Amino acid sequence: MKREQFSSSLGFILAAAGSAVGIGNLVAFPVMASKNGGAAFLIMYAFFVFFICLPVMLAEMSLGRHTRQNPLGAYTQIGQSRAWRTVGWLSVLTPFMIGVFYLVITVWIAGYLGKALMGQLDQLADPAGFDVFINSNELFIYMGFVVALTFLILQGGVKKGIEKATTVLMPTLFIMLIALVIYVLTLDNAMLGVKFFLIPDFTKLTGEVLNGALAQAFFSLSLAMGILITYGSYIQKHDNIVSAGKTVAGLSLLVACCSGLLILPAVFSFNPDIEIAELSESSIGMIFMFLPKIFLALQADIGYFGASFIAAFFFLLVFFAAMTSLVSIIEVPVASVMDGKGVSRRKALYILGSAMVVLAIISALSFGRVDALTNLLSYGGADKSFFAIIYDMFYETILPLNGFLLCLFVIYRWKKHNLIAEISDGNQTFAGSVLQKYMNLSLGIFIPVILAIIFVNTVSTIYF
Ligand code: PHE
Repeated sequence: MKREQFSSSLGFILAAAGSAVGIGNLVAFPVMASKNGGAAFLIMYAFFVFFICLPVMLAEMSLGRHTRQNPLGAYTQIGQSRAWRTVGWLSVLTPFMIGVFYLVITVWIAGYLGKALMGQLDQLADPAGFDVFINSNELFIYMGFVVALTFLILQGGVKKGIEKATTVLMPTLFIMLIALVIYVLTLDNAMLGVKFFLIPDFTKLTGEVLNGALAQAFFSLSLAMGILITYGSYIQKHDNIVSAGKTVAGLSLLVACCSGLLILPAVFSFNPDIEIAELSESSIGMIFMFLPKIFLALQADIGYFGASFIAAFFFLLVFFAAMTSLVSIIEVPVASVMDGKGVSRRKALYILGSAMVVLAIISALSFGRVDALTNLLSYGGADKSFFAIIYDMFYETILPLNGFLLCLFVIYRWKKHNLIAEISDGNQTFAGSVLQKYMNLSLGIFIPVILAIIFVNTVSTIYF
């Protein structure tokens, strides 16, 4: 069976940008930037995106297009050894497990969207509301909805599913984001937030901040999850990988910056005297606890319908961003099963979908409903739930490890000349360019070193 392809470079760019733009850009980035030096953080983050993440991104895309395989297939085909095949397995298991974790979060977002649409703002803003919702039976209705929608999109395949969905959702997302930014900037005291986001403070850039920023940039671009290898396997030979990669990285950064101009002005118009330290550390706290308070407070100014509308608009935006990321991550194991077992897309979806739903249900029960799941393991001085363990193991720990292994694989196993030849298809000026020399050096030496440091750092802070 001939492998499906994206119909154009633009189709690929929107799909990859859909994967990259997620909760990370919309919420985690603005909070991190405001706490850690504003524009100083932004400049450093942009530097990381283009000088450290972009080479890895181009390497993944090239590997995918060259092998026309999912990550397991790619590592097996080129690696020709049991060790590399094991790395391939890891690159499929990781997106599968992160997919479970991301599915649960997407279900929460769908739930908040549903509640905002029904005008239940006071429920959303209730401090105990989040806990009640994630432990309610209602949650499973939303899970059914998200699973059905994901199935529907992935069932359509590359062109009629992923590409079609992202070409509708991504431009809509951009327009909604800009509309919200414009609205928020007209609110009282919004400029205080803009100031906080943009005034640089270079003294805040400590080693820990740098580590966090790089990890954030890396994950926000969906690297080391096999996604860009898989999506890369659907790009056409004459497409220009370098310009596509630059566009995706640029779009992701742009969305992150716009989100800064949305979230922080909203926070300051809600409470001009807020101390930045009071902002929630986690994206989850920000989306599900802090922002709903702002929506509720808006009622006093623009009335019940106005405030519900703005809340629903915001959650729809986050929902679109989450759906396009969720689809991309589930496509990796789906492609692996299709390629490896030769089964149809529908069958692969049924097999993986049911396994993921079971794990997502177990995760959903691990927030207090079932004690054994809520306190499943104890490490790093805390009891950890099933959900927290997936997050720690796969998102925090194995991702940098996968990135590290990928760099070594591309440069030392697949070899530089093959990488250069692959990128040169569709880009005649790449060979011999500064970028090409920079990629060899960075992927071969300092990016793996940096990722190894992040890995060791994470392991020592999480588990000990
Ligand atoms: N890039 C996503 C974000 O910023 C992260 C992600 C992508 C997570 C795909 C899972 C799957 O939120």
